[in-house]
Amino acid sequence: MTEGAAREVGDGVDREATLRTLTDGTLEVTGRLVEASNGTFFGRVTRDDHVLECVYKPVRGERPLWDFPDGTLAARERASYLVSEAAGWHVVPPTVLREGPFGFGMAQVWIDVDVDAPQVAVVPAGQAPDGWFAVVEAVDVEDRPVVLLHRDSPELRALALFDAVVNNADRKGGHLLPTGGAVLGCDHGLTFHEEVKLRTVLWGWADAALEPGERRTLERLQGRLAAGPLHDALAELLTRRERAALSERVAELLVSGRMPDPGDRWPTIPWPPL
Ligand SMILES: Nc1ncnc2c1ncn2[C@@H]1O[C@H](COP(=O)(O)OP(=O)(O)O)[C@@H](O)[C@H]1O
Ligand SMILES: [Mg+2]
Repeated sequence: MTEGAAREVGDGVDREATLRTLTDGTLEVTGRLVEASNGTFFGRVTRDDHVLECVYKPVRGERPLWDFPDGTLAARERASYLVSEAAGWHVVPPTVLREGPFGFGMAQVWIDVDVDAPQVAVVPAGQAPDGWFAVVEAVDVEDRPVVLLHRDSPELRALALFDAVVNNADRKGGHLLPTGGAVLGCDHGLTFHEEVKLRTVLWGWADAALEPGERRTLERLQGRLAAGPLHDALAELLTRRERAALSERVAELLVSGRMPDPGDRWPTIPWPPL
C-alpha cells in the first residue's frame, strides 16, 4: 500500500466514501499487472485528500473469448460486486464502472493480501494437514503424486457459495485475497453465463448440505433479485437470460439444499488452478 492510501475494506471503513472516490476520483495508471491475461492495470484514484489504489481493466483490453460475448467482462465484475453486497457476503472489493486513461472499464479497490494466510497449497499426496480439503490429485514435474488443497473455513465457504450463485468460471488460487481474517475474491469477469460453467478449486464442500445461515442469505438474495435496486442495477449489466439463469441458480440451490457438485460436467477446475 502506498503512503497516504487508506485501508478500504473491513470494519469501520466508510464504504460510501470509497465508492465515491473510486467512481469520481482522478484515475492514474501506475503499473501493469504483467501476469494478467487481459489489459489489467494497477492504478491510483485521488479525490481531494482521499487516495486509494485500484485495479483498472479497460473494456478495450478485454481479450476475446469463445464463450463470453466481447466487451462484457467489466460489467460482469460490477454485477459480481453488487450481488456479493446485496446478499451480505461482502467478498468482492468495491468495484465500479468508469472512464479511465484507456477508456471505459472497471475499477476495483486493491486489497493488500496477507501473504502468511495462503488459502490453497500443493503438497505431496497423503500429507494433507487437518483443516484443509484435498481437491485435485496430480503429479509434479518429477512425476511424484501431489494434491491441491484449499482451507476449510467459513470465509472460504462463503466465497464458494457466492461462486455457485454468480456461476464463476475462473476461481483459481490466485483469485483469492486473504486480508485481515476475511477472504475476498477478484477477477470476476467470467461470471453469469447462462450455462453452468462453475470452474473452481473450491470443491471441498461439493454436495454439502446448506447451513441455515446460507439458506437465509440465498432467500434474502432471491428477494433482492426479484425487485428493487439490485434488480434494476443488474438489468443494466446482464442480459435478461443471464438474469433469469441467476435467479434459477439461487432457486435450485434452495430446492436442493446442497452446494453444487462437479458431477460429470467438464471442465470443473480452472487452468492453471493456482
Ligand atoms: N482487487 C485486487 N486486489 C489485490 N490483488 C488483485 C486485485 N485484482 C487483481 N489482483 C491480483 O492481480 C492478478 C491479476 O488480476 P486479474 O483480475 O486476475 O486479471 P486478469 O483478468 O487479467 O486475469 C490477480 O490474480 C491477483 O493476484
Ligand atoms: Mg486472473
